[in-house]
Amino acid sequence: FRTIDQLDVAGRRVLVRVDLNVPMKDGVVTDATRIERAAETLKQLASKGAKVIVLSHFGRPKDGPSKEFSLEQLHQPLAAVLPGIQVRFAHDSIGPAAEGAVEDLPNGAVLLLENVRFHKGEEKNDPAFVEALAKLGDLYVNDAFSAAHRAHASTEGLAHKLPAAAGRLMQAELEALNKALGNSGRKGVVAMVGGAKVSTKLDILTNLVTRVEALVVGGAMANTFLFAQGHDVGASLCERDMADTARDILKRAEAANCKIVLPVDGVVASEFKANAANETVPATKIPAGKMMLDIGPASVKEAAAAFANASTLVWNGPAGAFEIEPFDKGTNALAQEAAKLTKAGKLISVAGGGDTVAALAHAGVADDFTYISSAGGAFLEWLEGKELPGVAALEKA
Ligand code: 3PG
Repeated sequence: FRTIDQLDVAGRRVLVRVDLNVPMKDGVVTDATRIERAAETLKQLASKGAKVIVLSHFGRPKDGPSKEFSLEQLHQPLAAVLPGIQVRFAHDSIGPAAEGAVEDLPNGAVLLLENVRFHKGEEKNDPAFVEALAKLGDLYVNDAFSAAHRAHASTEGLAHKLPAAAGRLMQAELEALNKALGNSGRKGVVAMVGGAKVSTKLDILTNLVTRVEALVVGGAMANTFLFAQGHDVGASLCERDMADTARDILKRAEAANCKIVLPVDGVVASEFKANAANETVPATKIPAGKMMLDIGPASVKEAAAAFANASTLVWNGPAGAFEIEPFDKGTNALAQEAAKLTKAGKLISVAGGGDTVAALAHAGVADDFTYISSAGGAFLEWLEGKELPGVAALEKA
C-alpha cells in the first residue's frame, strides 16, 4: 500500500480517518493514548501544507446525534497534542456544516468533523454517505488500524473513492504485526494467550496453533483445557461445554507440532476477592470449592522458558485475575520476563487487544515491549488470521 510519502498533499484537502474512540469518564479522557498516537500523521500532513480533515467515530451511538457521543468533547484533547497547529471543529461530518468548514480551512490547519456514526450510512458503508464524505476531500489517509476490522464508509468505502494511503500509525501497526506473525514462518514464534473464556478466543487459538511453535495458555481459559484433559478444576471458572472444543485444539496443536504450555500449578482461593486467603497447588489437583485465580510460580517458570527459547512473542490477555492482588503476580512476573528479554535484545514482543495493555501497564512494563498495538477488536481479528477490510481496501487502492 501507499503511505503519505507518496501523496502530494500541499494545498490539498486530505481526509484522515483516525480512531479517537478513547475511554472517557465525566467528560474527561481517561486514556489519551489513541489521541497521542494519531498526532504524528496529522502533524506531518499539516507541516506539508495540507488541509487536514479528521474523521472518526466515538462510541456506539444508536439514534443519531447526541452530546454523549459528540466528538466536540475531543476537540481540545486533540488540539493539545497538536501544539502550534490550528484545530477547528465542525458540527457535522457531511453536508453544509462540514462543507463550509472545509471551504474556510487554511492550508496547514486541522478540522475535526463530528462523529461519523451520527449518520446511519457510516456503519452501512452506504455509497451515498461515502460520496458525501468524499466530496470533502481530494485524498484519503487511513490511520485507524484499530477500526480496520469494520467495513464502514470512513474505514473502507472511502479507499475506493479517493486516492488512498496509510497513515504513520497504520504503517507502524502493520509493520510491527507482520514482523511478529507474518509469512516468514513460525520458527521461534511463541504466543501467550490469556483471558477468561475459550469461547471468545476460539478462532485465535485455532489460528495460532498453526502459526507459532509454542502457545502459552493462561487465565481462566486454562481451566477449560485442564478440565478437558480430565482434571478436577474445583470451583474455577470453566466452560465445561467447551471441553470437546478444547480437546480439538489440543489435537490440532499436536498435529501442527505446536507445544501447548498449560499451567502446572495455580494459586487458588475460595472467593474472587482481593487478598482472599490463598494457596498454591498443582494445577491437576485443584481442591473442591477452590478456584484458580492465577498461575503459580512453576507455571511462570515454564512460560518464561518458552519465552527464552523464542525470538518473537505475541501476547494477548492476562495470565490470571490481575485486577485483584495478589492474583496479579503471575501476569506481572511473565510480563516482566518478556520485558527483560526484550530490553536485552533477545525478544521481539508485540501485545494488544482488550485487557492486555492494562495488564502490561499494571505490571509496569507497557513501555518495554517492542510494540504495543492501539487496537482492541482489530488486534483480536488479526490474531484470528482474518483479513481486515480497512487494510484490504488500502492494499487494493
Ligand atoms: C475499538 O475501540 O476497538 C475501535 O475503536 C472500534 O470500535 P467499535 O468496536 O465500536 O467498532
